[in-house]
Amino acid sequence: MAGIETTFARLTAELDAPMLIVTTEAAGERAGCLVGFWTQSSIRPPRFLVCLSRLNHTYKVAVRARSLLVHFVPEGATGLAELFGGETGDEVDKFARVEWHRGPDGAPLLAGVDTWFSGEVVERIGLGDHVGFLLAPVEGTVHRTEEPRLRFHRARRIAPGHPA
Ligand SMILES: Cc1cc2nc3c(=O)[nH]c(=O)nc-3n(C[C@H](O)[C@H](O)[C@H](O)COP(=O)(O)O)c2cc1C
Repeated sequence: MAGIETTFARLTAELDAPMLIVTTEAAGERAGCLVGFWTQSSIRPPRFLVCLSRLNHTYKVAVRARSLLVHFVPEGATGLAELFGGETGDEVDKFARVEWHRGPDGAPLLAGVDTWFSGEVVERIGLGDHVGFLLAPVEGTVHRTEEPRLRFHRARRIAPGHPA
């Protein structure tokens, strides 16, 4: 019988979550990465949990930020997914390579992504090698298009820019 870690890895490989790009800004520093670990966690009040690896550049900026900007990624936005999931802000300036403008709370709002929300960080929770950022949605917009969202099974071909 396979060990529990192997079984767990096989089980989680079946999950096919839509991917997010989470951006943030603190003291003039911008960061963002591709995120597959997330969930809505409450209806009233509305709450949303985003999990960031403690090793990521994005985490280091996010711990100092008031809010995070959550983008829902369309399937066709492979360039954005590769940049935010395959490169690290420790080495490159991702925001010099994409179009964006200042969104809520100064966080970078990515051009070409029309479904997003900004959430205030109301709690940070240690969850293992990732930290959960519990968000209270403040502002956002949702566009319904025929285009499906980018999901984990397609995005996992991207080699993460940072070891988790
Ligand atoms: C399919 C996929 C899912 C990912 N999910 C997460 C995640 O849930 N949380 C996270 O912190 N990083 C996740 N990553 C890793 C980061 O997006 C990646 O290491 C990125 O390069 C980190 O950039 P940064 O160092 O600029 O923050 C994922 C990467 C891929 C390819």
